[in-house]
Amino acid sequence: MDILETVKKKNKNENSSIIRFGVSIPADLITAFDQYIREREYSSRSEAIRDLIREKLVEQEWEREANGQTVVGTITYVYDHHKRELVESILDIQHDFPDDVIVSQHVHLDHHNCLEVVIVRGRPSSLRSLAYKLRALKGVKHCRFTMTTTGKRLS
Ligand code: NI
Repeated sequence: MDILETVKKKNKNENSSIIRFGVSIPADLITAFDQYIREREYSSRSEAIRDLIREKLVEQEWEREANGQTVVGTITYVYDHHKRELVESILDIQHDFPDDVIVSQHVHLDHHNCLEVVIVRGRPSSLRSLAYKLRALKGVKHCRFTMTTTGKRLS
């Protein structure tokens, strides 16, 4: 069954089996997540987690469909600049994608933390690869990748 079909059947769960699994989460993260759940009036953690998973899968599906097109986007992340090797790793990764990185903007948030927004343009697979490499760095606390299309086909 494809992803979108799965989502359309969101409220018709009677035919699909339910799997239970355990997840280990730091206490402060689950406290924040419970707050998220309350604000969105979810009846349970399970329903909130199901929605988050669906959202990510739809996003992935959309990105797949956008392949073959030039897309533009932003990669936003927060990191501790005291980790000197981390700063170098971030720069090295950006230099591996010179055609994709249009500009990066750096903001000193506080004594420890820096915020960077990288504006990117290129093939979805390449931009995703760049974003995932940044996200995977130890010390990058949060990384968000957003992508949109320019509507132009890659030649
Ligand atoms: Ni800084």
